[in-house]
Amino acid sequence: MEFDCSEVLFKCPKCGELLDAKYNWDKIEVPEKLSDFGKRWASRSNPLDFSGVWRFRELLNFCEDKYKVTIGEAQTILQQNDAVAEYVNIKPGRLYLEYEGLNPSGSFKDNGMAAAFSHAKMVGAKSCACASTGNTSASMALYAHSCGLKSTVLIGSGRIAFGKLSQAMDYGAQTIQILGDFDDCMRQVQDVCTKLGLYLLNSLNPFRLEGQKTIMYRILEGLGWEVPDWIIVPGGNLGNSSAFGKAFYELKQLGLIDRIPRMAIINSTGASTLSDLVNDKKLVWNNGEVDQKIIDDYYADLTARNFSPHTIASAIEISRPVNLKKCLRTINICSGVVIAVPDEEIKDAKAIVGKYGLGCEPASAATIAGLKHLRAEGLVGMDERVACVLTGHPLKDPNLTVNYHKEKQGKFSNPPVEAPNEFDEIIKLIK
Ligand code: F0G
Repeated sequence: MEFDCSEVLFKCPKCGELLDAKYNWDKIEVPEKLSDFGKRWASRSNPLDFSGVWRFRELLNFCEDKYKVTIGEAQTILQQNDAVAEYVNIKPGRLYLEYEGLNPSGSFKDNGMAAAFSHAKMVGAKSCACASTGNTSASMALYAHSCGLKSTVLIGSGRIAFGKLSQAMDYGAQTIQILGDFDDCMRQVQDVCTKLGLYLLNSLNPFRLEGQKTIMYRILEGLGWEVPDWIIVPGGNLGNSSAFGKAFYELKQLGLIDRIPRMAIINSTGASTLSDLVNDKKLVWNNGEVDQKIIDDYYADLTARNFSPHTIASAIEISRPVNLKKCLRTINICSGVVIAVPDEEIKDAKAIVGKYGLGCEPASAATIAGLKHLRAEGLVGMDERVACVLTGHPLKDPNLTVNYHKEKQGKFSNPPVEAPNEFDEIIKLIK
């Protein structure tokens, strides 16, 4: 079924599946080659050309310019990093890190919010809400007050990193802590939004995913418009992976790229729904005819065991990802693979990105931990060009970082040394 963009719907009222933005490409003037987008760097005094989302606006053309919202998001860096490459056993010059933590609210969510709030403005929304493991709430709260909307966030009690919680409160969102996990919040917020007519900003909102496609455009831009061999991304609610596959599919369809990169989606072993379903239960896209019974049986088992996911990478502590089917489509488009990595490896990988790169939050480091496995298994070659999406800023979760170092939890712990208040003693300690 098809609906007009001016409607406020996130699921098909008939079948209950998520909606997808589809474009009439014949009617849109898309640049002939990707490098044409680069011309917008020369007109950055126009806020839409400055935005790392809207300078690709022809590729997410769902609303008029007058509705487009920007707070200067997506000024990110694609950094080649040889020290992290060495850690994962990739040849120098081949590993790139996409720092989404450099966004205004400190995570990749701002890409999606710029787009979704534009839609919210277009439909005249006054109040909005989301469920969150933290970053969605921080980003939504920031955009909401910038656009004059009221905002409410539902978070799992004790399930959110301190940096993120501080942002939601500081940016003025009403913050409701629920005695439950993210999946409980996600279920509640959908009913709350329906009941109160609030605009829903989770990634089941298709316009969020349209904004998140631009992360891939910027990776291509950072590589001189060349396609890498692999994209590595953490998997939580599976919005990013869904958006990335769609981005590459559309670019190929438009003739703007000649091949599609492979994708690896990384779960934590403590929240491994995607990995379990894809690797163990052999769930596949199957041209859109996904075997619902496999999913239903898996979720019924989680319920029967009273299972709640647990990982130090709290951003991806999710066991019922809403974008599961769209992610299966991405796996199909990108010959994708999925693996789950343990928390200890995520913590060590995070310390490596901290020591040799610009730092990142735990969920982001799952990409590096995952890539190390994929290299060891030989699935990713030493010579292949790989881009890892580092989704959030290191200051999002300071407690974890401090504990890792102070309590010497891992191989790369760098604890502070205590010293008396005496000059000679201090001098002796300095190496
Ligand atoms: N990395 C970070 C830092 C995140 O905050 C999230 C999701 C993910 C990865 C997973 O991305 O859902 O697209 O697969 N955070 C959401 C939130 C769920 O509420 O902030 P995904």
